[in-house]
Amino acid sequence: MFENKSGILLIAGLGFFLFSFVSNALVPILMYRHLPEQTVEQLVTQNVLYQFEDLKIRYPEQFKTYVGEATAENCAKLLKRGRDVYVAEGCWHCHSQFVRPVSNESRRWGPVSQTIEYQNELQRPVMFGTRRVGPDLSREGGRRGNDWHAVHFYDPPTVSPDSPMPKYRWFFDGAPNKPNERGLAVILYVQWLGSWLESYPLYENYLPIQESMSNPTE
Ligand code: HEC
Repeated sequence: MFENKSGILLIAGLGFFLFSFVSNALVPILMYRHLPEQTVEQLVTQNVLYQFEDLKIRYPEQFKTYVGEATAENCAKLLKRGRDVYVAEGCWHCHSQFVRPVSNESRRWGPVSQTIEYQNELQRPVMFGTRRVGPDLSREGGRRGNDWHAVHFYDPPTVSPDSPMPKYRWFFDGAPNKPNERGLAVILYVQWLGSWLESYPLYENYLPIQESMSNPTE
């Protein structure tokens, strides 16, 4: 077997396969087995509930039709649906979910991502992404209001001039203030991103809803 080249290549190939299996599968499993995987229900924090209730206040009719009551259970369901929409629409072709510890990324997007952040049901499959045509989204939650996202999905250049992001008209029943189930779900999903961090900007940047509505220039 060791007398010819193909024998050596075969053994080397198997060896490298075994090595990568140990380093990429076995070692991480052993290292992180004390961190239990979180279910979607466990991911529904106060920050997420705040956004969920904000959707109900802003879009009462749509909310009633597509979500029903504003319970934590329905919130978890909508969040899961949002992840499915994110996957199905291929948002991950253009957006990553990983703040890397290089190139001062943390100055632009916030805290560098940690292992624990991927230990949950909504990160199956893991949404690292491969390209950044658009910005990293792992700290997107709370950066913008729900109405900003609605308008942005309906017609990105309205709020972000020259945006190459596609219009997602099928997230709406015809107008940007009428998000359908897909629309509500994907908005809640982007607001969830980073909601587990103390730095979630919600309470710093947000105006109470009445105030922001009476002052459209804010
Ligand atoms: C063709 C590439 C592309 C696709 C596909 C895409 N985006 Fe984007 N996205 C961008 C670019 C570029 C920007 C930055 C310009 C802008 O704000 O529109 C952006 C911006 C955003 C922002 C605003 C970030 C911020 O706070 O400034 C969010 C949120 C977002 N995208 C979510 C999504 C979601 C959810 C999907 C899937 C439904 C999606 N994108 C699909 C390219 C894309």
